[in-house]
This record gives sequence, C-alpha cells and structure tokens, in this order.
Amino acid sequence: MFPDRVLSGMRPTGRMHIGHYHGALKNWIRLQEEYECLFFAADWHALTTHYNETESIAESVWEMFVDWLAAGIDPTRATLFIQSRVPEHAELSLLLGMITPVGWLERVPTYKDQQQKLADRDLSNFGFLGYPVMMSADILVYRANKVPVGEDQISHLEVTREMARRFNHIYGREPGFEEKAKAAIRKLGSKKAKRYEQLRTAFQEQGDAPALEAARELVDDAQNLSLGDRERLFGYLEGARRVILPEPQALLTETPRVPGLDGQKMSKSYGNAIMLREEPASVAQKIRTMQTDPARVRRTDPGNPERCPVWGLHQVYSSQDTRDWVWHGCTTAGIGCLECKQPVIDAIIKEQQPIRERAQRYLDDPTLVRNIVADGCERARKLAEETMRDVRESMGLRYD
Ligand code: TRP
Ligand code: SF4
Repeated sequence: MFPDRVLSGMRPTGRMHIGHYHGALKNWIRLQEEYECLFFAADWHALTTHYNETESIAESVWEMFVDWLAAGIDPTRATLFIQSRVPEHAELSLLLGMITPVGWLERVPTYKDQQQKLADRDLSNFGFLGYPVMMSADILVYRANKVPVGEDQISHLEVTREMARRFNHIYGREPGFEEKAKAAIRKLGSKKAKRYEQLRTAFQEQGDAPALEAARELVDDAQNLSLGDRERLFGYLEGARRVILPEPQALLTETPRVPGLDGQKMSKSYGNAIMLREEPASVAQKIRTMQTDPARVRRTDPGNPERCPVWGLHQVYSSQDTRDWVWHGCTTAGIGCLECKQPVIDAIIKEQQPIRERAQRYLDDPTLVRNIVADGCERARKLAEETMRDVRESMGLRYD
C-alpha cells in the first residue's frame, strides 16, 4: 500500500567502532542497494538518558556521520538526517502519547533494565519512560515498513506495531467507511472486485494469511485508485478501518557479535573498542596486547579458543581454513598467541583501508557532510509532512 521504505537510527555516540560496522552499518549498506533508505542520528534519544551531558551531542553527530559515509553509506541512495531537525517527529510523538497507556511503557523490558544498568543516573523522568513513544514516531512518521534493528530493540518495535494498530483503530474510522470501501472495490473492475471479496472472506473467516497477502498485492497493483481508496481497501481487508499508519516489520539480520578487547561487549565507554578508522599501528598494538585464554600462561600450554576473545574475532574476520589452523594450533600448543593474532590484525587493517581513504575527503572538507545532511533533513521533512497531513486530518486537527 505504501512503498517499501527502510528506516533506522542510532544514538550519536561519536566515532564508530568495528562492532557498529559489523552489527549495523554493513547491513545498512546492503539495504541501500535494494530499498529507499532513511538513516538518522537520534539526538533527542540521547537526551532521554543523558539530559545533563549535552555539550558533546553535536560533535558526536558529525563524527558519526563521517563514519557512516566512510563505511560506505551512499548519500545518493540513502537519506541521512538528524532527528531534531525534523520537528514532525516531536509532533507525532506528542500525538501518539495521547493514546499510549502508561502501562505499555512500564512493561517494556528495557525500561527497568536500563534503569538498573544506569543506576548512577536518575531516570525517573517522563522522557525516559516515553522513549518507545518517540521511537514509534520516528518510524511511523515515514510509514517505514522495514526497520533493521538489533535484538535489544525488538520490544520497542513491538510497541510501535501496537501503537500503529491502536492509532488506526481509533482514528481510521470515517463516516460511511463501508460504503466508501465498497465503492472503491467496484473501481477495481468486476473481475478483481470479485477476487478481492473472495480473498477478504478467506482471511476474515479462516484467518488465511496468504489470502490477506494476495489481496494486498491485488490492491497494490491496481493503478487507478486514489491514495484514500487504497488505504480503505487495505483497512477493509482486516476490519472496517482505514490504515493511516502501517505496522512496520523488524529486519533482524544475523550479525556476528564482535567481542571487545577484553571479551566483553565492545563499547567505547568500556575502553575495549577498535575504532572504525583506527591507525594500523594502533590496531596491531591493541590486538597484540588483547586478552587471550587466561589458562594459557606459557607458550607450551594448550589453549581453549572458546575461552579466548581472539577466537571471536576470527569468527568475524577469518576464513574456515584459518579458523581450522587456529583451532588446531591453539589446542595443541602448536602456535603462539601472537602468531594466532596476526591474521586478525591483517584482516582488520585491510578492511579499514578503503574506509580510511573515503573518510579523508569528509575530514578535509566538513562542508560536504553538512550539505549532505542538510539535503537529507529537507527530504525527510517532506516525507514526514505527507504523513502528518493525514494524521492531523484523521485526528480532527484540520483547519483550512
Ligand atoms: N533506539 C535505538 C537504539 O538505541 C535508536 C533508534 C531511535 C531507532 N529511533 C529509532 C532505531 C527508530 C530504529 C528505528 O539503538
Ligand atoms: Fe586465543 Fe589464539 Fe592464543 Fe588460542 S592461540 S589462546 S585462540 S590467541
């Protein structure tokens, strides 16, 4: 009904590390080949937890964009923008807030988890509780249907879907909906109209999901319908409501977990990260001194790769042959740890070479990034504005 559209965001944490690269950016780079993509810096989200540390937000946003571009995000394919430069996110967030039961928010698992994890901060603020509302607005304001996220964001996406459903349920009502839907069905032409009715019945009476899918395709392919009629026909399939905000799907892609230098999750704040544009000498130094299997004290002690974070890096960076060589060499004390680490060092430096090169242009001329993002913000606003017109109207907030 609405075109395929991918949206994802990241909090501005400054320069990216190789965990961001393998966990998200590589996937975004693949997606931009196939879909219309929007990627944004979630600066307001940073405020939900770090409202009292705002001095570095802007700088972090620019550093993050340089790294996205250096990694291979192509500004001619993807729209890059800053959340706070598209105020429609705030407007939709406020409106969604009106129909969000507080219980939904209190039950989101990350709510209590994060409060415990960040126990040194006071997170009893409204903005933090409302985080999933803002995230829903980020997605729904573009009617994005595909949202690449990590495991940790799945519960937020589930809230977004419930929010869209609730919104459509409350505001998708219109006087004479049935009649309008039936008139729209007639516009399909008699053959397709009959098919539509059959598929709708199959879905409504037997919950036949493929029938629902087929009916949606049928509506999708009908060229002569207005947007309003399309929404009615989509809504009529499932009930008697227009679909104003479509439910997005999570795009969960298998991504390797990149261990930090100490085997913990890689994070700049843990000091265990290898940055995306780390100097080769520094990459080598960090890997050479990184932790190995603690039981392997002497060179002659056999090791257990399962207990070694270097093994985790081999999973990401090495071929099967190299991994076999590591496994055998480690468990028989046939190779030393420095020897084992060398292929990882080489692979990281090789992977980063083109990234460092691409970054140079943007570092030499910061106006390039400013312009890309200014264009992106403008494009994003246009798309968001289209949705907001329908949202305002369906909520009775139209004054012209
Ligand atoms: N919550 C996400 C995170 O912390 C970032 C984010 C904000 C996001 N809004 C989004 C991701 C919308 C996807 C879609 O990683
Ligand atoms: Fe780790 Fe490799 Fe040393 Fe084994 S040989 S402990 S896998 S670094």
